[in-house]
Amino acid sequence: MVTIIQNGTRVVRYSQNSMAVTRCICSMVTFRQLKQVAQENGITTVDELQRVRPFGLSCKLCLPYVRQMLKDGTTEFEHSIIE
Ligand code: FES
Repeated sequence: MVTIIQNGTRVVRYSQNSMAVTRCICSMVTFRQLKQVAQENGITTVDELQRVRPFGLSCKLCLPYVRQMLKDGTTEFEHSIIE
């Protein structure tokens, strides 16, 4: 495991056999689906996205990933993002 800092955010990379993070498991919605909702509605923030398609209201572990998705369009993460 390697921990690096990217733009002030701690990113933990696992060496092998880790599963990609692709969804909010509490709300059963993928980042790909959320990205589509964001694009269709011109959404650029998590708060705006949550108003249109509720997610991220339980453990909130998905929120840093969705923030990153809104920044660069990534929908599958091979590393952990810890804010
Ligand atoms: S993974 Fe999104 S609220 Fe738990």
